[in-house]
Amino acid sequence: MSNSVHTLLVILLMIILIGSYSIACVADEYRRDDFPTDFVFGSGTSAYQVEGAALEDGRTFSIWDTFAHSDPLFRFSDSDISGGCSGANGDVACDGYHKYKEDIQLMADTGLEAFRFSISWSRLIPNGRGPVNLKGLQFYNNFINELISHGIQPHVTLYHLDLPQILEDEYGGWLSKNAVKDYIAYADVCFREFGDRVLHWTTFNDANVFTLGGYDSGYTPPVRCSFPFGIINCTKGDSTYEPYLVAHHLLLAHASAVKMYREKYKQPMQDGFVGINLFAYWFEPYTNTLEDVEATQRANDFYLGWFLNPLVNGDYPDIMKKNAGNRIPSFTKLESDMIKGSFDFFGINHYNTLQIKDSPTSLEMDIRDFGADMAATLIYNGSLITPTELPVAPLGLQKLLNYLKKEYGNPPIYIHENGQVQPRNGTLMDFKRIEYLQAYIGAMLDAIRNGSNTRGYFVWSFLDLFEFLNGYNVGYGLYYVDLDDTNLARYPKLSAQWYTSFLKGNSITKDAIVLNLESKDSSSH
Ligand SMILES: *[C@@H]1O[C@H](CO)[C@@H](O)[C@H](O)[C@H]1NC(C)=O
Ligand SMILES: *[C@@H]1O[C@H](CO)[C@@H](O)[C@H](O)[C@H]1NC(C)=O
Ligand SMILES: *[C@@H]1O[C@H](CO)[C@@H](O)[C@H](O)[C@H]1NC(C)=O
Ligand SMILES: *[C@@H]1O[C@H](CO)[C@@H](O)[C@H](O)[C@H]1NC(C)=O
Repeated sequence: MSNSVHTLLVILLMIILIGSYSIACVADEYRRDDFPTDFVFGSGTSAYQVEGAALEDGRTFSIWDTFAHSDPLFRFSDSDISGGCSGANGDVACDGYHKYKEDIQLMADTGLEAFRFSISWSRLIPNGRGPVNLKGLQFYNNFINELISHGIQPHVTLYHLDLPQILEDEYGGWLSKNAVKDYIAYADVCFREFGDRVLHWTTFNDANVFTLGGYDSGYTPPVRCSFPFGIINCTKGDSTYEPYLVAHHLLLAHASAVKMYREKYKQPMQDGFVGINLFAYWFEPYTNTLEDVEATQRANDFYLGWFLNPLVNGDYPDIMKKNAGNRIPSFTKLESDMIKGSFDFFGINHYNTLQIKDSPTSLEMDIRDFGADMAATLIYNGSLITPTELPVAPLGLQKLLNYLKKEYGNPPIYIHENGQVQPRNGTLMDFKRIEYLQAYIGAMLDAIRNGSNTRGYFVWSFLDLFEFLNGYNVGYGLYYVDLDDTNLARYPKLSAQWYTSFLKGNSITKDAIVLNLESKDSSSH
């Protein structure tokens, strides 16, 4: 399709669209200029989900490679996951390892101001510790240089769920304090090699759900859990205390990396920022009874306070210590002092709002895990595992940002992930994604106007990529990747054009999108 025909088609469809949906949030007309000038808008991916080249140039398996290659029994076989999932893995993914120049050109064309990606630990240091793989080093140097030469800020995640498998095999990964030591050495290499150009570092992506998925319910690697808490019957693990132990080690690794950055790199050389990322639902009480309202507070303490309370106040929330007893480790005074204040920002991945119901009987169980200690039930609207489409509930984001402001001293926040999922079968006219993004960005603006210290927003995801639990069945991308094409060609969805229009300064109302695309079209003739 020629560009102008395509544009006309877009205009036509946008006109049809005007009558067909309504936007739920307050700020439904806004423009880039309504946000602070140092606010950044971007998009993102992660190493295993996009790079491919799984065993090329010296890279070794991470726990995600192992999981994706494992027996399909270890993968979800929910009826709402179609057969394409089994056998899907990141061996090739979007071939981002070879196509990075093309992709960064697309990012620049899209108008991205910042890009969030992760470094594959097992590509940079294939043995988990020790020698640096020069080819891996070269790849990330090239990638970062290419971003910068296109005027795009790199925001780097050090750990996006992908521990080198060799460390899992050697000493049990994050169950061991050895992982803390090896992580710090890996972070040191990254700060030293890339820190002259990278100013935004995230130590761990989804620190809370990595821990719960891998060690409580066992549905993500390293697939550890114990009966009756697992979603599957894991062959190893102990859900009653391993999640608490692993989170403890992640917090120590995070804080040690921040301490090292501050002592060794920050002044006067680099002057960057280091934060940690958490997955954050917004929780609403199922009813307005006192029981459900209190259960909702517990759910916030367990999901967010678990990490945020040590980082802001130096210890786990009281309710967690009370309910988990000696199954939750305690910090020494030195550790507590090191962890408290060890962040420059919090990264938040937010997609949806859940309801919370009190579940007091779980506290009477002889053995308990994180969920039982929380004594609250999460009510999912639709499928947890394969949402076919997320409800548009932008007030959840607004309330979440207000909550973080109020409870945790208004820390700097980056929305690291937010986006809409759709079946991944080639539909470029992704109106539902536009509706979702427009509503959530508007809700974020409302929160900022209400004093939230939010500094950036990244659409998940830039490309349709390997979606961890759903393989290639669904996509969140601004760009569709044609997996049937040996070149894995990328195609812009309507949402990519919508985002570009916003980033170029156009007012984002539904009508204005039409007018702006029209005027762009006529000016090109
Ligand atoms: C797990 O094991 C328990 C007890 O042995 C059994 O009742 C249950 O059906 C098993 N669940 C699955 C998903 O295999
Ligand atoms: C659940 O999702 C549906 C469909 O997206 C939506 O209409 C409904 O309002 C949602 N309900 C709750 C309680 O969030
Ligand atoms: C994509 O899949 C959905 C549901 O599986 C179907 O309703 C839709 O028509 C498909 N679209 C295309 C373009 O194949
Ligand atoms: C603004 O934030 C406060 C908390 O600091 C909250 O109570 C209030 O509801 C928020 N207002 C809006 C419009 O979000």
